[in-house]
Amino acid sequence: MRIVSGIQPTGHLHLGNYLGAIRNWVRMQDDAEKAGGDCLFFLADLHALSMPHVPAELSANTRAMTAALVACGIDPDRSTLFNQARVPAHAELQWLLNGTARIGWLNRMTQFKDKSGKNREGASAALYTYPVLQAADVLLYQATHVPVGEDQKQHLELARDVAQKFNNDYATPDAPVFTLPDPIIPSSAARIMSLRDGGSKMSKSDPSDMSRINLTDDADTMMQKVKKAKTDAEPLPSEPAGLEGRPEARNLVGIYATLADVSAADVLRDYAGQGFGAFKPALGELLVEKLGPINARFVALKDDRAALDAILDKGAEKARTLAKPTLDATYDVLGLCR
Ligand code: TYM
Repeated sequence: MRIVSGIQPTGHLHLGNYLGAIRNWVRMQDDAEKAGGDCLFFLADLHALSMPHVPAELSANTRAMTAALVACGIDPDRSTLFNQARVPAHAELQWLLNGTARIGWLNRMTQFKDKSGKNREGASAALYTYPVLQAADVLLYQATHVPVGEDQKQHLELARDVAQKFNNDYATPDAPVFTLPDPIIPSSAARIMSLRDGGSKMSKSDPSDMSRINLTDDADTMMQKVKKAKTDAEPLPSEPAGLEGRPEARNLVGIYATLADVSAADVLRDYAGQGFGAFKPALGELLVEKLGPINARFVALKDDRAALDAILDKGAEKARTLAKPTLDATYDVLGLCR
């Protein structure tokens, strides 16, 4: 078992990232150890170049996101924690895989369509080839499992297609170069929605900070954001089916259920018939209870630049060693003389 996943160091770690992915990363550290495997988690700083960015913010965010991951429970002594830019094998393998990935596959990627918007001709080439770098990220380490939120599913399907085609074209069935990775997507919380609009996902790039709970928000801010979250005027139903057609209500109940590790039906059993005037303060308190300790650990670590750089240096050294055999094998089967 080899678990690999990444997060872009743009903006703050938010509740969608945490419940959709990072909480699973933390839990999978134990699973991997029990199975005799290991975990690699990284800051996808190379992916951040796909959108306009401010260089000084990227380096500050890379360290801040490292502090946030450690605060969430990623243990750099048990997991390999690093940033892509310190491990050139990611960019190298991307180029080697560009010969295998098909234009038609990239044209189908919904994230490219969403992020490029109406100005497709003006989008960066990096935004277009982004999924090939993501394939390289996981194939480089022979990942077996990749814990992500729902929005990354299509990218991982592409990674599997790239691996399969590459193995078919350049390897023999008894000695494949790449392992086909399985995405691990939580059954609940796969898609946490914006607090301002139940129809769009909670995202780092939403211009409204009120749309998301950041793990760096203090208790008062979290409470305020929940109280101001968009809702409807109906009381909560007694069954999850009653949340159909009520995306904002469904989102808040889903967040409560996931944080409390219970089902939506359990939450509705306690709050059926009650309005948001009662439910929102309860949700706010639960958020503060669960995220408060993470926030405190983040605050204690975030300005310790030397400690954060030491974590990333150590992680990168390990990642470079783990990446080498697959990178060498890829150059080799492609017939490149080195
Ligand atoms: P990123 O940085 O957008 O998000 C990091 C993780 O958080 C999940 N996520 C969500 N889950 C539920 N609800 C939401 N509203 C929500 N928003 C984000 C994402 O699914 C993701 O798991 N391309 C990736 C980073 C990446 C990567 C990789 C991931 C680069 N290489 C290799 C896995 C494997 C991204 O931009 O995630």
